[in-house]
Amino acid sequence: CLLKEEKEPITVLVTGAAGQIGYALVPMIARGAMLGPNQPVILHMLDIEPAAEALKGVKMELIDAAFPLLRGVVATTDVVEACKDVNVAVMVGGFPRKEGMERKDVMSKNVSIYKAQASALEKHAAADCKVLVVANPANTNALILKEFAPSIPEKNITCLTRLDHNRALGQISERLNVHVSDVKNVIIWGNHSSTQYPDVNHATITVSNAEKPVRELVNDDTWLNNEFIATVQQRGAAIIKARKLSSALSAASAACDHIRDWILGTPKETWVSMGVYSDGSYGIQAGLIYSFPVTCEKGDWTIVQGLKIDEFSRDKMDKTAQELIEEKTLAKSCLE
Ligand code: NAD
Ligand code: LMR
Repeated sequence: CLLKEEKEPITVLVTGAAGQIGYALVPMIARGAMLGPNQPVILHMLDIEPAAEALKGVKMELIDAAFPLLRGVVATTDVVEACKDVNVAVMVGGFPRKEGMERKDVMSKNVSIYKAQASALEKHAAADCKVLVVANPANTNALILKEFAPSIPEKNITCLTRLDHNRALGQISERLNVHVSDVKNVIIWGNHSSTQYPDVNHATITVSNAEKPVRELVNDDTWLNNEFIATVQQRGAAIIKARKLSSALSAASAACDHIRDWILGTPKETWVSMGVYSDGSYGIQAGLIYSFPVTCEKGDWTIVQGLKIDEFSRDKMDKTAQELIEEKTLAKSCLE
């Protein structure tokens, strides 16, 4: 038979789809950047009533773009319709941080959304639905979602720190003037906030087919232990300052990277950073949604074990864990 067998479409939910990340993200998904170039997709887009007209406009543009992989588009303000049978849920809906706002300021607005949407996902999504929370505070929103959707396996609920991971790769690549694809195995530990710890102690660069430690090639521990870390930690705020809007295209691209690697697997001998529930690895309180180095295979992530942690790293990993413990308490008080 000469007919090519077509794969079953995968249904992807994007919440907050009329917003700026949504606008950058849905065409990437429809082009195959998230699930691969041969994987048909159905897009479910959710937003709230005030954004309903804008959402309709996004749907019109998706139709006008005539994406070959796009097998259906639902644009709705009904959370039940949006969650129905979704295989992948990318939770972008919420209020972004504006200039001068701390991440804690967006907490009360956003955690209550995640509590409400947890039950819709639990009741209506596909049983093995994989969830990626992008909206801030991303780790704590994911934690709230996990607590209010107890029947979704905890391994299926993650948050986005891949943007920070990619930012770290980008900074090293700029510093050494090497291709970003030759830099690998940086780690983002902890919270998607300014307490995150971008760690290069295990990172390498491929030079003439050999892997060399980033520390050796950069050869400037003062820069790596100070400016580099601060730049990655503060990059979100720097983008807000420059654009008067928070990052969107890089966030959308990172969301595609996160889901692609989770479902299709990480490249050989390469790890990525994902916010996942802690099982106590590296002494991080179990049950927090904390960013770890992970490898992925056949749709499952595994925390990379056995990395040597020095005193400098230990202190930074604990500080960002402490912030997540405080966010958890604050989130719970917002929900009371
Ligand atoms: P935006 O304001 O442009 O879009 C957010 C959209 O969410 C809006 O269209 C809004 O109407 C919608 N929305 C609000 N409440 C909703 C609800 N209950 N259900 C569905 N939709 C709802 O914001 P943006 O720039 O696209 O950013 C979205 C979120 O992502 C923000 O919280 C931002 O801080 C966060 N963010 C996270 C990362 C990361 O790396 N984790 C990076 C960038 C931005
Ligand atoms: C980012 O990292 O760009 C976003 O999370 C925006 C922010 O509030 O920092």
